[in-house]
Amino acid sequence: MKFKTTPYHAHLLKDTDRLSAFFNAIKDYDGEHDLAYDLGCGSGILSYFLASYFKQVKSIEINHKSSLCAQENLKDFENVEVINSDVLDYEFTKKADLIVCEMLDTALIDEEEVPVLNYAKDFLKENGKIIPQGIINTIELVNLERHYVHWDEGVNYESFSKPFVYSEYNFLDDINPVFEDELTLKADKVGIVNGLKITTYTILNDNLVAGPSPMLNPPLLIPLDEKSVKVNDLIKVKLKYIMGNGIESIQTEYI
Ligand SMILES: C[S@@+](CC[C@H](N)C(=O)[O-])C[C@H]1O[C@@H](n2cnc3c(N)ncnc32)[C@H](O)[C@@H]1O
Repeated sequence: MKFKTTPYHAHLLKDTDRLSAFFNAIKDYDGEHDLAYDLGCGSGILSYFLASYFKQVKSIEINHKSSLCAQENLKDFENVEVINSDVLDYEFTKKADLIVCEMLDTALIDEEEVPVLNYAKDFLKENGKIIPQGIINTIELVNLERHYVHWDEGVNYESFSKPFVYSEYNFLDDINPVFEDELTLKADKVGIVNGLKITTYTILNDNLVAGPSPMLNPPLLIPLDEKSVKVNDLIKVKLKYIMGNGIESIQTEYI
């Protein structure tokens, strides 16, 4: 079947690592199969996977053009309803067994996964599940060529420390969208550091973790002032951002 998409969703469809991770998580889901919500359904591809497992699928998409594509792509499924709405304005009437929400981006800064799930998970049954179920973020020191916030899409940079896990989220928990912490990173070579690299790993379910792929959380590169470092120097950095408020919300400072 040929899916109708916007150009952006066409790129999402071409990322087969991303798609197979979600396909496998939906296939492996072992709870009740009454109702599933697909929040931010885009072209409808994840609803297409859900349709053969669930009695009812409600697919919500904020973008009008994308919702029309999803309606067209899913028109043969009587158990799927596509709704053109902001999830945050949608009045849920029924609790679901499963919520699929792929509004992911590195460290959840630039998309609305956190505000949307903080609202929508009230409409999940007591033993209900969320796909993905959470994320893990790692951070490292780097030397960057570009001195603005950007994603790792084939750009050059050099790593100056081992990555370590600085935050971890389970989407069943209430998540404070404001991240603020003081981090200590240990340099492992001599040279000039001028940035941070954040890598996000997506926990699809208890058995499946997806690393970055071109359209699923490519690492985020964040500039810092230049600093000379030696092996084993401890570099202390204050990092702040608001999940769902965009990369403009990122603030960094050496301590
Ligand atoms: C990363 S795309 C994923 C699309 C689709 N689930 C897929 O896997 O191809 C995220 C989608 O969420 C939609 N979206 C973002 N914020 C939303 C909101 N508040 N309510 C509904 N949809 C939203 C975007 O328009 C976009 O289509």
